[in-house]
Amino acid sequence: DTKLLAALPLAGKHVLVTAGPTHEPIDPVRFIANRSSGKQGYAIAAAAFAAGARVTLVSGPVSLLPPPGVTLVAVETAREMLEAVRHALPADIAVFAAAVADWRVADAGAQKIKKDEGGTPHFMLVENPDILATIARDEAQRPTLVVGFAAETEQVVEHARAKLARKGCDLIVANDVSPQPGGASVMGGDRNRVHLISMNGVETWPDMDKQAVAAALVARLGQLERAKLHI
Ligand code: CTP
Ligand code: CA
Repeated sequence: DTKLLAALPLAGKHVLVTAGPTHEPIDPVRFIANRSSGKQGYAIAAAAFAAGARVTLVSGPVSLLPPPGVTLVAVETAREMLEAVRHALPADIAVFAAAVADWRVADAGAQKIKKDEGGTPHFMLVENPDILATIARDEAQRPTLVVGFAAETEQVVEHARAKLARKGCDLIVANDVSPQPGGASVMGGDRNRVHLISMNGVETWPDMDKQAVAAALVARLGQLERAKLHI
């Protein structure tokens, strides 16, 4: 009924969230990674749980505690993240907030590379699977609503629009992660100013803390999911 929907807009839904970076080993002691604190993804998982959803949070290595009530699946690499995401499906809504490393070292060594042997190493990189695009284009497993993020340093909206089309998702949450005057940055920080990009156009939200962005996004996802199901 409408009262329950207002209080718990995601009651009975399964929400899958990816968050944090992935770590791609170079050798047992070194890795390649993107900058990501995981804060925005963890806040979305917490907000979805507060909205009544069952929540699975597939997370790369971060220094955050999992939100109470949320099922955490901890992974390291992009390939592990894809496997964990597949395992967690089906879901009604999937939010891909992770900063997945785009490449991994083709033949990561089992032993630590020593500085004194063979000079400066050269690495062959291979592309990681695109987890968002894989799930968005999977006819059998696609959640009703698939949401991606786009962290950009320039032409934020243009790049995000291209990603929406390329990846086949319903919504892109885009933000500007370029260094700001005064040194404040979205990355690792507590605030975020996002643009919501969908087939229907672009909506720019005011600067908010990451919890507020998460709560507003979750409220919007409840509406969009019901609209997509025509209920
Ligand atoms: N993503 C993913 N798997 C990847 C790369 C990205 O699931 N291997 C997801 C991210 O979680 C995010 C969205 O795709 O939701 C966009 O990520 P982004 O890095 O901005 O896009 P890329 O397609 O990797 O393009 P680029 O890094 O060149 O801007
Ligand atoms: Ca990328």
